[in-house]
Amino acid sequence: MKRYLNFPLVKGTASRQAHADLPEGTYEREMSKEGFFGPAAFFYHRNPPTGWIDFDGPLAPRAFDLTRINDAPGSPWSAPVVLHNKATEIRLWCLADPMPTLARNGDGDQLLFLHRGSGDFFCDFGHLAIGQGDYLVIPRGTMWRIVPAEPMRILAVEATNSSFTLPDRGLLGPHAIFDPAMMDTPEINEAFRAQQGDTQTRVAVKKRGQVSWMTYPFNPLDAVGWHGELSAARLNVRDIRPIMSHRYHVPPSAHTTFLADRFVVCTFAPRPFETDPGAIKVPFFHNNDDYDEVLFYHDGDFFSRDNIHPGMMTLHPGGFTHGPHPKALTRMFEQPKAMTDEYAVMIDTRDPLEIGEAASAVEWTGYKDSWKTKS
Ligand SMILES: [Fe+2]
Repeated sequence: MKRYLNFPLVKGTASRQAHADLPEGTYEREMSKEGFFGPAAFFYHRNPPTGWIDFDGPLAPRAFDLTRINDAPGSPWSAPVVLHNKATEIRLWCLADPMPTLARNGDGDQLLFLHRGSGDFFCDFGHLAIGQGDYLVIPRGTMWRIVPAEPMRILAVEATNSSFTLPDRGLLGPHAIFDPAMMDTPEINEAFRAQQGDTQTRVAVKKRGQVSWMTYPFNPLDAVGWHGELSAARLNVRDIRPIMSHRYHVPPSAHTTFLADRFVVCTFAPRPFETDPGAIKVPFFHNNDDYDEVLFYHDGDFFSRDNIHPGMMTLHPGGFTHGPHPKALTRMFEQPKAMTDEYAVMIDTRDPLEIGEAASAVEWTGYKDSWKTKS
């Protein structure tokens, strides 16, 4: 446990409760340690902290229209890498036809988020039908194959040299947000048995970023059964029951779905807006100095962002203050709707991310100017 300098102080004109009862006409900015878990300070500014009239250099916020990526390779290892660092590799994979080979990730656990499409997932553990909004957690070393029933768009996130785990729910208890019993696991069923046989099958194994091929004179997804604690698993975003407080805007970390060693995956799902008159009702401005923040917009109407549509991705490199867009900011204390209507996947990494060529090619360069109200 670190011993931070820790002072519960109030200076000048300030609220004593974070995210509520701001001094008249001010904008709150949070600066904190350890994401939202360490000591923090809340500043009450006269102007929005995103009120820049120019933003130049590598730190600028980025947006990528991944709907414009349409290559459809049969192997996940050929799918374009959009963002990466030593702890993760994030790809946008369009899969239109049945995978001609099996895939196996030797570099780390694989998370697939099915943004669009449906089909069948076959792996060492059996068969699962998969559909839109599914997260699929595939343990490192699992052999697998997908047969789409309709074209898929998949966000693939690798926990490089690491595993996906579940967050501690703390005071909420282990069944909050989603009950682990809501996770489906593959079955040794008729569909699984039907794909077995003596068809020559290749397996594309990725290890240390390089792909090797093994060829078998049969389909190696040939288990007749198995037992153990480890399995691939599926969770649909519609089975997530987000926590909220009617009097307090909870930080995004409260929506954590999966953890890896050097990043977290969170899910924003529809929830009621706060109703307390003094509680802010949009994401608060904050410095994300400890994390790079990635958002992938899955579905709905993204209430804190202008000009962002499903299938887009934004990257806010750690090191500057960000927050709601000007249109959203006008609704800081009053929302016309009762509930948010958005599904988004957030990936926050402790280490800086590099931008892949595929993402650079579909960048919306105007994003950093989208907070401007003055020029
Ligand atoms: Fe953020």
